[in-house]
Amino acid sequence: MIMGENGMKKTVAIDGPAGAGKSTIAKLAAEKLGYIYIDTGAMYRAVAWKVIDAGVEKTDGNIVETAQKLDVRLRSIGGAVRVFADDTDVTESIRTPEVTALVSKVAQLGPVREKMVELQRAMAKDGGVVMDGRDIASNVLPNADVKIFLTASIEERTRRRWKEMKAKGYDGTMEQLREEIIARDKADSERAISPLVRVPEAALLDTTGMTIEEVVQKVMELCGDGR
Ligand code: CDP
Repeated sequence: MIMGENGMKKTVAIDGPAGAGKSTIAKLAAEKLGYIYIDTGAMYRAVAWKVIDAGVEKTDGNIVETAQKLDVRLRSIGGAVRVFADDTDVTESIRTPEVTALVSKVAQLGPVREKMVELQRAMAKDGGVVMDGRDIASNVLPNADVKIFLTASIEERTRRRWKEMKAKGYDGTMEQLREEIIARDKADSERAISPLVRVPEAALLDTTGMTIEEVVQKVMELCGDGR
């Protein structure tokens, strides 16, 4: 297991736009490092799922109230991370186009972010985590040992997400998916609170044309472990 300068396990922050491959890469890198993988996007998605499931009007007030009442948890079950909204396992149901369409609105709200960021910091307090999201290096873990900004061209990100969604029976067009990604990146980058940014000290990793193995290898090198 790889340690930071202070002898503690490291914290690794991975940020980037939609479809850059953050979760795939972060999960594999965490496995190799013997660290825990924390998918912060899944937490905002769990709130969006709950708002839809509750059938309430999607007003800011209702979203904040839902988030405040909800117990969002990431649990490691049989080596895999599962996402829970109260007692419901929502790991699969948070990936629907309906949840994706609502999540950026949920993630713009200050009280929602405050609650999620507090949970995220608590999960990272002992180190040994790879955390991915939009504001990890800039806000959640500004002292992270390793900071990486993972991206790829819009064409490549659309292709990757298309493959993933097709496998799940998505019936929209590739052009619709591309527009959805562009709109979400815009909302995430332009929001007032903790927008998606690349902090100057983050290593820029453009994964266009790279295989998953190549990207993981590069991340391991950046973590100081190039095996
Ligand atoms: O996997 P994908 O790139 O589609 O998105 P995700 O990582 O699951 O994140 C879903 C949404 O949650 C993002 O579009 C952001 O609106 C929000 N998010 C955020 O605001 N801050 C984070 N740290 C992580 C996600």
